[in-house]
Amino acid sequence: MRFSNKVVVVTGAGQGMGRAIAQTFAKEGASVIAVDINLDAATETIASGGAGKSMARALNVGDSAAVKKLFAEIDETYGKVDVLVNNAGIGSSKNDGFDKLMSRLAERGAQMAKGEAPTVYPDLIIDMEDEGWHGVLNVNLHGAFYFTREAVRLMVKSSTKGAIVNISSTSAMSGEGGLHYVTSKAALHGMAKSLARELGPRGIRVNNVVPGPTNTPMMQSVGQDWINSMIAAIPLGRMAEPQDIANVVCFVASDEAAMITGQDIVANGGSYFK
Ligand SMILES: NC(=O)c1ccc[n+]([C@@H]2O[C@H](COP(=O)([O-])OP(=O)(O)OC[C@H]3O[C@@H](n4cnc5c(N)ncnc54)[C@H](O)[C@@H]3O)[C@@H](O)[C@H]2O)c1
Repeated sequence: MRFSNKVVVVTGAGQGMGRAIAQTFAKEGASVIAVDINLDAATETIASGGAGKSMARALNVGDSAAVKKLFAEIDETYGKVDVLVNNAGIGSSKNDGFDKLMSRLAERGAQMAKGEAPTVYPDLIIDMEDEGWHGVLNVNLHGAFYFTREAVRLMVKSSTKGAIVNISSTSAMSGEGGLHYVTSKAALHGMAKSLARELGPRGIRVNNVVPGPTNTPMMQSVGQDWINSMIAAIPLGRMAEPQDIANVVCFVASDEAAMITGQDIVANGGSYFK
């Protein structure tokens, strides 16, 4: 019970990794605030695996005012926050050109399979509208900033030596993934390093957990062929399960990791080495 009497906020807690992370903290005694844009999903996370004074709340992590309001409620209800997990993330957004990229990649693959020199190129940036770029950055990066800022304000107010964990992605290191997605995840690495220096003197630790392919609804949406090719490139021979990642997040947030800050903790089965 490493998190007895601890208050833990998990974003994107309605399914996938976020649900496993929230429920693992709860199993270890934490009161968990499960945040998701989908209230029913977050409520189900708490109903099927909450503990203590856990609760579910719906908001868009990219809505700064809503995040402020949530932390005012957390302050009033619990008086502190011990752990924040910035897990909510999306791979694509409206008008980001991703649909065109996928069909061009398929066409390029077919040309190469026939032994032809490809004449079709990925070119995601050419079709990416401002709206698509901002859509992904607003959730993956700005959302993490809004949550981190409010969590730090409350940690400082309540003199809590807390832990912040961002969920990044191996794609931030390998570059495999959409331009906006890779950029947003790589930015989290810079954010954790800067904040580790800034907040270390207050005893607040900031790290990234960096998963590789993980068996969640986000991953299931990419199709079996793509999944098979990813598994083929993983030395440990399988995707991570959400629980594998939740175990790492709970370790990084626990006192057992008291000397770890500003780090990228990679859990990808060996699919990419730093
Ligand atoms: N699945 C993978 O293979 C993989 C690999 C590396 C990193 N990641 C990262 O791990 C995290 C979790 O991924 P997952 O696979 O569990 O995703 P998922 O799509 O299965 O679940 C994401 C959850 O976040 C919620 N969400 C999305 N946008 C939101 C918003 N604006 N505000 C609040 N909630 C929002 C969704 O409703 C959903 O419940 C993401 O940051 C993702 O980028 C995933």
